[in-house]
Amino acid sequence: MLDAALAYAQHNQPNALEELMAFLRIQSISTLPEHAADVRAAAEFLAAKLRQIGLECVRLIETDGHPLVYAEHLHAPGKPTLLLYGHYDVQPPDPVHEWISPPFEPEERNGNIYARGAVDDKGQLWMQVRALESLLASGVLPVNVRVLAEGEEEVGGEGIANYLAKHSADLACNAALVCDTELFAPNLPTLCVGLRGMIYTEIEVHGARTDLHSGMYGGVAPNPFIALAHIIAHLRDQDGTILIPGLLDGIKQPTKAELLAWQALPFDEEHYRETEVGSIKLIGEPGYSVLERTWARPTLDVHGMPGGFTGTGAKTVIPSHAVAKVSLRLVPGMNTKDTFTRLQQYVAQITPPGVTVDTRLIHSGEPVVVDTENSYVRAATIAMREVFGRDTVFVRGGGSIPVVGDFTRLLQIPTVLMGFGLPDDNLHAPNEKFCIANFYRGTDCLIHFLTLCGA
Ligand code: BES
Ligand code: MN
Ligand code: MN
Repeated sequence: MLDAALAYAQHNQPNALEELMAFLRIQSISTLPEHAADVRAAAEFLAAKLRQIGLECVRLIETDGHPLVYAEHLHAPGKPTLLLYGHYDVQPPDPVHEWISPPFEPEERNGNIYARGAVDDKGQLWMQVRALESLLASGVLPVNVRVLAEGEEEVGGEGIANYLAKHSADLACNAALVCDTELFAPNLPTLCVGLRGMIYTEIEVHGARTDLHSGMYGGVAPNPFIALAHIIAHLRDQDGTILIPGLLDGIKQPTKAELLAWQALPFDEEHYRETEVGSIKLIGEPGYSVLERTWARPTLDVHGMPGGFTGTGAKTVIPSHAVAKVSLRLVPGMNTKDTFTRLQQYVAQITPPGVTVDTRLIHSGEPVVVDTENSYVRAATIAMREVFGRDTVFVRGGGSIPVVGDFTRLLQIPTVLMGFGLPDDNLHAPNEKFCIANFYRGTDCLIHFLTLCGA
């Protein structure tokens, strides 16, 4: 059965690539309201495929935002039930002129497929689809499966969180399989065992009632951008250490064993700085390694400051208000509620005179560390060893997948985070890609994994 499924997957590779390209052409950008119909089209596309390969009860589940896609195949009595998760929404493609080929016209170049969503997460979602297709086409799916894909991961995943809170009983399962992370290095089988959480906020400062002539009123009217710059400058120091009082207090350090394992990973800081980050220096908290800073320490970043005059040329105006989009990444020992409260209070405290400030929460997700002492994680490491011929390393991810916290808390199941991206895949950036060999190897790993879970 296993061999037949692997052979099917191999034989079916050209087809799969074509299908993935069609999926990637759909502009399912969840954060842009003008693309809501495209997001839905991507959901329909996925649902149609799940129906075609023989999954049952395939349907879109409506939320307050973009729909979930649900499907099931529950014909392996006595075997465990897995919840397969991925997201079909993508980040906006800007800056579009930095793409070598257009973001929604997938192109194959030097063994990669380039498109927005190639690795994050349509390509990885499609590996799950292909693994199911290959097993079903060769006779049996040896384990019970529920598929739950969302179209709002990139905007915080509120719909799926609400759905899980209400309908956890309908989703009875033994473990979740998430394909939305990356390998630590090419050819190095990797499981992700922790993710940072986040709060995404907007800090808005109001000055004068309306925009004002900066010559007539400059000198008396408060400038909201200057006020905002002052606020931001006091949120963290030059190393990146967050200055919000109490924020760092409860943080759980990684264990000694984890730190030792991280030290043994193949990591060249200078190469990383040069090729991945591309800055003249890496910044960050003294006394912590790069992996600790990106996996186990909180961060605070500014994503954009809309407002005022940003067109070409010059306009002499004192804007009446200014906004900064600010997020914090959370690590174990922190929670979204307290972190937001602390931020809000501190911002109010450091706001200069003459302006008012409003700090709003846009979305949030809790940090997670997943349990590795269970049969599903063991099956995943065996599956990866079969395909890669090497032992699996355990890493954490600096990114966030909000729903994983809900799997742990609401469904109380272990989660396997098995992803096949590469560190240089440019997720959320121009020229996002997915290594085609990893698309195929990932599919094979999933076929092995599902087979092992049903053994
Ligand atoms: N797949 C990523 C998260 C990720 C990337 C985890 C690399 C591990 C390694 C996910 O799609 C993502 O980008 N999440 C957002 C979540 C946010 C918008 C709530 C993130 O991390 O910024
Ligand atoms: Mn993702
Ligand atoms: Mn993403």
